[in-house]
Amino acid sequence: MQSRTIKDAATRKSLATMLERIEALSTVHRRLYQSKDVSRFDVADFARDLVTDLLTASGRSEIKSTLDLEPIVISAEKATPVALMVNELVTNALKHAFKEKPDGTTAGRIGIKMSQPDGHFNIEVSDDGVGMADASGDASFGMRLIKSLARQLHADIEWRDAGPGTKVVISMPNEPQQKGNVS
Ligand SMILES: Nc1ncnc2c1ncn2[C@@H]1O[C@H](COP(=O)(O)OP(=O)(O)OP(=O)(O)O)[C@@H](O)[C@H]1O
Ligand SMILES: [Mg+2]
Repeated sequence: MQSRTIKDAATRKSLATMLERIEALSTVHRRLYQSKDVSRFDVADFARDLVTDLLTASGRSEIKSTLDLEPIVISAEKATPVALMVNELVTNALKHAFKEKPDGTTAGRIGIKMSQPDGHFNIEVSDDGVGMADASGDASFGMRLIKSLARQLHADIEWRDAGPGTKVVISMPNEPQQKGNVS
């Protein structure tokens, strides 16, 4: 409602992106408070929801996703930064990776992989788009947010040329999980 009263296009756009970031946060909070154990958070479930939501909201049904998600449970305090990071990376792929073809469509594929080898938690967000080689270089708010969240999580993050496309690889320490369900 508020955005309709804003005349300046750039301001309207930045309000819209801010709303998308808040949306991602509220998805995390909804999932946390719906779960039986509010101190643990299943990131794989969240990622599945988030990608579906983002793709649906973009209205670009030609863009497909490939999800390879191990069930990974992290502590509630890590849930928000992890979720925000995944949100930024998937949004970037949707926004920047796929060039429009002459018929107006933008086919492409976004992949998310999550795995948990020995005490680590790895996330890969990839796309088969144009790649980042010609990215302007001046990191905008999104990139700064991603890097600062990575620092907060003690995570290593790397952008790789996936030829075609981009693969962002995140690796962070994750405390060992207790086995068994809390009911
Ligand atoms: N998956 C991708 N494929 C191609 N280019 C990308 C990709 N992700 C990022 N980029 C490039 O990196 C730049 C910086 O990304 P960043 O997220 O910081 O900014 P943004 O998405 O343009 O704006 P915002 O601050 O709202 O996130 C983008 O403008 C784009 O040129
Ligand atoms: Mg961005």
